[in-house]
Amino acid sequence: MDSTKRCRIRLDNLQLWPLRYRWTVNLEKSLAIDPELVFLDSIDSTNLELARLLAGSSKPDLFAIVAAQQTSGKGRLGRTWVSEPESSISLSILLRPGDGIEQGLIPLFIGSMVSIALSGVTGQTAQVKWPNDILIEEKKVCGILSELSEHGIITGIGINLRTQEGAPETACSVSDFSQASFDDVLSEALFQIRAGWTKWLAMSNEFALQVVRDSSSTIGSEVRAILPSGEEVTGTAVSIEPDGRLQIQGADLHQLSAADVWHLRN
Ligand code: BTN
Repeated sequence: MDSTKRCRIRLDNLQLWPLRYRWTVNLEKSLAIDPELVFLDSIDSTNLELARLLAGSSKPDLFAIVAAQQTSGKGRLGRTWVSEPESSISLSILLRPGDGIEQGLIPLFIGSMVSIALSGVTGQTAQVKWPNDILIEEKKVCGILSELSEHGIITGIGINLRTQEGAPETACSVSDFSQASFDDVLSEALFQIRAGWTKWLAMSNEFALQVVRDSSSTIGSEVRAILPSGEEVTGTAVSIEPDGRLQIQGADLHQLSAADVWHLRN
């Protein structure tokens, strides 16, 4: 299959892209899983681009955009997410849950699916640190940012494929463990997300909660959490609630819906 013909590439972006990068992304496997996948050489942010597309036309459940580079990638809690050329996979997926789906579980569940994909391609145990960082050997290999839009939930997934210039000590990349290509990693992530989401829609929120709990490395850990208000909570992470909140038992019992969490060494 000639995958380049099946990719919709934004021509206005090509001139910004050094020629040597242009042919490195072969999407044959990914397009076999999602023939409608939109590939962009470079974009400010795939989450922003998906939101712009949705403002102009309606898109189906699981509609996806992937980019080989982002120039203004967005991280959680207003941070920047760096996505240099050839070093990371920036993927945004539209999820349109029907009634009855527990929306608070969606980012955690997608994180679980991506952790299964990354375990498969690296041969390592990839697990989810609440809320949705994916860690291998306690180092971050992937971050997820879900944003609510009136057309559905835009779930942005950033996977470190190779070590980026200036990456922190706390980060790792797929290339630390495997020679898997952009297409290998993307196709496996798309496959697991599609399969898991389809199963959840056919089953129940209890199924999704069990998956989320099974892939969490936070449950059972001693943790320190900083809430968006600046408040600090320490204790044992005892559970993830049916609505996705993290329950921490310290001096008091806390239920967090947003926080930065660190696993403390026991
Ligand atoms: C985080 O760990 O802070 C979340 C990072 C999320 C990054 C992804 S890359 C694809 C999508 N587009 C964005 O601008 N951000 C998300």
